[in-house]
Formats: sequence, C-alpha cells, structure tokens
Amino acid sequence: MRRVLIVGATSPLARYMAHEFAQQGDTLFLAGRDVEELERVASDVRIRFGAPVYTGRFDALAIEEHEAFLQGVVQAMGGLDGVVWVAGTMDGLEEALHHPLALKRLIDVNFTGAASLLTLAARVMEEQGRGFIAGVSSVAGDRGRAQNYPYGSAKGGFSLFLQGLRNRLSKKGVQVTTIKPGFVDTRMTWGRDKLPFLASPQRVARESVQAILRGKDVAYVPAVWWLVMLIIRAIPERVFKKMNI
Ligand SMILES: NC(=O)c1ccc[n+]([C@@H]2O[C@H](COP(=O)([O-])OP(=O)(O)OC[C@H]3O[C@@H](n4cnc5c(N)ncnc54)[C@H](OP(=O)(O)O)[C@@H]3O)[C@@H](O)[C@H]2O)c1
Repeated sequence: MRRVLIVGATSPLARYMAHEFAQQGDTLFLAGRDVEELERVASDVRIRFGAPVYTGRFDALAIEEHEAFLQGVVQAMGGLDGVVWVAGTMDGLEEALHHPLALKRLIDVNFTGAASLLTLAARVMEEQGRGFIAGVSSVAGDRGRAQNYPYGSAKGGFSLFLQGLRNRLSKKGVQVTTIKPGFVDTRMTWGRDKLPFLASPQRVARESVQAILRGKDVAYVPAVWWLVMLIIRAIPERVFKKMNI
C-alpha cells in the first residue's frame, strides 16, 4: 500500500491515474484548485475501489503556500510514498506570444509551480531514502514550435528539471519519472481537428502509471511519440522554420 499525492486531480488524465493507483490498494491525496470537483472525484474513487482518499486545495501559483500544503498532505496520509504532478495549462497561449504577464502565468503554472512543489517533495523523499516522483511534462517540450513555444518552453524546462532531480535522487533511493504525453483527448485539445495519434486519457493514464511503477526514467505515452519526436528533433532548423507544425 502506497500513499500517493496527485496534483491537478480534476484533469481527466489525473482522474484515471487515481483509478490505476486505487485499484492496487493505494491511499490517495487528490489536490487542485476546485475543491468541490475534487470531492466528486474522490467519492467516485472511494465507491469504485474502496480506497482511502483525501482531498485538499492547491494552487500552483501560490508558491508561498506549498510548504504548509505538503506538510498537511504528509500528516493526513501518515506519510508520503509518491507524488504525481499532472497540473498544467495552455490557457492564455495566444496572449502569451505578445504579453509578458500572460507569458509569466503560463511559465509559473507549468514550470515554477511544479518545480516548487517537487523540490519540497524531494526533500521528504530524500530524508526517508525512498519513494517516487513523477511529472507530466509534454512532447511539446522537446522542440520549440512557432505555435506553442510559451507552453512548450515551460514544459521543456520542466523536463530538464525532472532530469536533474532524477540524477540527484537516484543516489538516494528515490525514483523520478518524466511522462511525455502526445495529444490527449481532454479539454486542452478540444476543438482542434486532425490531431495525430490522439489518445484517450484512460490509455495515457494506464501507460503512465505502468511507467511509474516499473521505475522508468522517461516515458513517451503512447510509445509511438518516442519515434515521432526522434524524427521531429532531427529536422534541421533551416527546414523546420519553413514547416507549418
Ligand atoms: N491534453 C493534451 O494533449 C496533453 C498533451 C501533453 C501533456 N499534457 C499535460 O497533461 C496534464 C493534464 O492535462 P489535461 O490534458 O488533462 O488538461 P486539463 O483537463 O486542462 O487539466 C489541467 C489540470 O491542471 C490544473 N491546473 C491548472 N492551473 C492550475 C493551477 N494554477 N494550480 C493547480 N492546478 C492547476 C487544472 O485544474 P482546474 O480544474 O482547477 O483548472 C486541471 O486539473 C497537463 O500537465 C498537460 O500540460 C496534456
């Protein structure tokens, strides 16, 4: 039985990840901004799997509150064996192309907030010498693209953060997994047509949790994105500039 914190737990991807952990008898702490919705998600998990589920308010942008929040999580569950960061946003992407404050908000949710909480989680895990940390980054962080680089650069930074954290904590008995989903069928992609390899949140959640529990370092989900991004990263910049992707 593990005690797992899931951050951004109102997202469809996180909900299905909660199912995957609860199915294995784990205790969960579901965190996010919308406490009523979190409570609905928690009741659903309790009824389906009989799992103990706690909920709590968490805002990625309220960095000064992160330490007290994590202490509360540890206290509620009586310990912490794993943290899964799922929160993220693309809201304000268009505006962020031209306005620094919108750009800052995107970076703060997708990178700074994530790095802040996981730094605190790392402290707990390092002290106890075991546990796992997983972060949902994105294939968007693998190459800067004209249409989404404010989001992509925050995710790219997050991937590098997780990589460094993994290299530091691997000597301390703590596993760090970077999850890089391709397109997932959630509100983030609604209204965008003809997205290649669009996957259901159920599938991405299942494969992500498998990767975490198998102790993988980096997981592209679905796995085809490993090949897709290998090709995309290999395109020379002078060619990439002329492409419309
Ligand atoms: N959908 C895709 O194609 C795709 C592809 C690659 C990676 N991802 C990543 O997958 C993760 C889940 O996204 P999704 O597709 O399931 O989209 P989603 O439904 O929009 O979920 C985003 C989650 O992040 C939370 N969040 C946003 N701002 C927050 C803040 N300031 N503090 C705390 N939580 C905040 C949201 O909470 P609220 O309910 O309070 O807004 C929601 O739970 C994200 O990290 C996303 O970047 C998605």
